[in-house]
Amino acid sequence: MSPSITDEVAQRPPTVLVFDSGVGGLSVCQSILSLCLGVRIVYVADNASFPYGTKSEDYLRSRITTVLSGQCEQYQPDMLVIACNTASTLVLSDLREMLSIPVVGVVPAIKPAAETTQTGVIGLLATSATVQRHYTDQLVADFAAHCDVIRVGSSKLVEIAELYLRGDEVSEVELTDILADFFCETLSRPVDKIVLGCTHFPLLKTQLKQCAPYPIEWIDSGSAIAKRIKGLFDSAGLTLDASIAPMHRVRFTGAAVANDHFNHSLRLLGFQNFEIEERIL
Ligand code: DGL
Repeated sequence: MSPSITDEVAQRPPTVLVFDSGVGGLSVCQSILSLCLGVRIVYVADNASFPYGTKSEDYLRSRITTVLSGQCEQYQPDMLVIACNTASTLVLSDLREMLSIPVVGVVPAIKPAAETTQTGVIGLLATSATVQRHYTDQLVADFAAHCDVIRVGSSKLVEIAELYLRGDEVSEVELTDILADFFCETLSRPVDKIVLGCTHFPLLKTQLKQCAPYPIEWIDSGSAIAKRIKGLFDSAGLTLDASIAPMHRVRFTGAAVANDHFNHSLRLLGFQNFEIEERIL
């Protein structure tokens, strides 16, 4: 007989529930798995509602709180990571009020980009929803008022990242086209940093770099999130046992994207042992 959820909760290593609309949050898992050896991840992809970047704010608020209250009750993680900028810029405070565990969000890394730019021109590449959010306006006003911030929203790039993890080729022409506004000749000074404000995009960092006409820095939030998680484990006195290779769960609310290439991608991202589940709701 397979162990019940209650047994699983009682016996599990320190666990982080990582949430996204699709596979983007796996880029954040990669950073967490490489810094927090021995951590166990329950990854929840709400792909039945993918993509989040085109959904209304009211729909997303209610959907995300419903999915996460159920998943947190079932798996009782030690902490929750909203590995989705589109969701974090909208529902972080609701989730923090609703749950008694630490909730860590991912928001566009405008601050480090603005602090280190040499040219004073930075790019924000995110979903169309994130580039328009009040939360993003506030980040720019608080940390990048001295910069020109060029915002590009792309749902296409989210889709390209999803397909890439399943084995599709990435078209250089499509990527170059998406990046065009960052490199247009009418800019008085060149962009020297681009913030990857969607967790899907670091999965394509190698290809994005190849499509830029000159070298720039691409900034994402993965390693900052991993450091935050490690700090939270330390301050909660939760010890990670680096000698164990936990069984991770990769759960999809809709049909799973599982194929051999996806399994291979998961291993490359640091998931040694994992179970994939689909249509979990
Ligand atoms: N990965 C997501 C983000 O960080 C959202 C992609 C989507 O569903 O539109 O914004």
